[in-house]
Amino acid sequence: MVNKLIANMSLDESLIGININWTKYFPTVALIHRHLENVTEQLNGWVDNPLQQSPKLIHEINKTACEIKSNADVLVVIGIGGSYLGAKAVQDALTPYFGLQENGVEVLYVGHNLSGTYMKQLVNNLNNKEVYINVISKSGETMETMLAFRVLRNYMKDRYGNAHENRIIVTTDAKSGHLRKIADQNQYRTFAIPSNIGGRYSVLTPAGLLPIAAAGINIDQLLVGARDATIHFKEVQVERNMAYRYAVIRYELYKKGFQMELLACFEPSLAKLQEWWQQLFAESEGKEQKGLFPSSICYSTDLHSIGQFIQDGSPILFETMLHFNEVDMDYFLPIEGRDEDALNYLTYKSFNEINAVAKEGVTAAHADAGVPIIQIHLKKLDAYHLGFLLYFFMKACAMSAYLLKVNPFDQPGVEHYKIKTLELLINSVVYKS
Ligand code: PA5
Repeated sequence: MVNKLIANMSLDESLIGININWTKYFPTVALIHRHLENVTEQLNGWVDNPLQQSPKLIHEINKTACEIKSNADVLVVIGIGGSYLGAKAVQDALTPYFGLQENGVEVLYVGHNLSGTYMKQLVNNLNNKEVYINVISKSGETMETMLAFRVLRNYMKDRYGNAHENRIIVTTDAKSGHLRKIADQNQYRTFAIPSNIGGRYSVLTPAGLLPIAAAGINIDQLLVGARDATIHFKEVQVERNMAYRYAVIRYELYKKGFQMELLACFEPSLAKLQEWWQQLFAESEGKEQKGLFPSSICYSTDLHSIGQFIQDGSPILFETMLHFNEVDMDYFLPIEGRDEDALNYLTYKSFNEINAVAKEGVTAAHADAGVPIIQIHLKKLDAYHLGFLLYFFMKACAMSAYLLKVNPFDQPGVEHYKIKTLELLINSVVYKS
């Protein structure tokens, strides 16, 4: 079945390989839906966030992005997990592979690893460039982020003296955390991440929007897409809500014994979007010994590496293929008189046309091998459709986690890692007398 529910997006369920009794899900989905739509001061802020964002805030973000673009060659974004993946995902998906986006500044990311080599090279790379910093952390306490911020704050002080204050923008909770305290004490400019929106659901808040706007992407269009999705996915009936259908299909496949979902894309610029999706689902669902392991694959690149396993290996996985139907740029195969490479049969074909045929080939081969395939089609890879898609995945993920009976909004495992690392670091300190 192909769900052609709206012009911009469709969900093709014809290759999922299972029959679902949708009626069975009506009451459960409706119950979870009502719970999600109940926005409180503590919970579910992301659900209506695209509809409720004040035009003043968006104006302020756009104005700050313009200032960065006028005064800087590079914006360094400091953050990890949900405090960087969304911005990087949108940036990579919508800016050129090579060179800078017209009307955008170079955006570099740090604080998402603990590599000294990365830090050293990043700092060296800033010399001779005008710099702005945007440090992003909901808790304002995350070790990786705070370590990188200390390094870069010192760098900015050394380089710009008192003027460094204008070049640091802090995105964090409105009231709590070290970062909020530092920002207030030093009068750094701030944007708030609403307290009822968690890290991996925060891409459409200032946490994602400021770096995205600075990269030269139209955040108004991104938000129009997200707003349309917010309204569209308020549909309570599972048969008419693609986000909920996707959640139920995943759940049914999980119950059938599948252990892993691969998000498959056909454009390498979507690698970070896949990572954002992975974090969203892994942190929301992977708890209490439950959940599908979310992984990703880029075609045709990975057909020459893990494609063999998908085709013939342990039957533990299913695929969700993400298609963008219209593309802006293409390249045609040049004609060659002598046909030395025996490729003349493809003359007049473009790379995207060949990619489309490869898609059909891989889909047919995997379906023949019994790999269930969910297919998501979007009209175009642009800001509007990406905004729509980000929201779709967040709504689907929350529904999916609740179907598993786990809390989509906590991350006890990550907190445990943070505590254990802190303990080890404290124990490793040698106090000098
Ligand atoms: O989704 C989450 O909550 C996490 O992945 C966080 O985004 C990540 O741990 C970073 O946290 P913070 O934004 O508090 O620095």
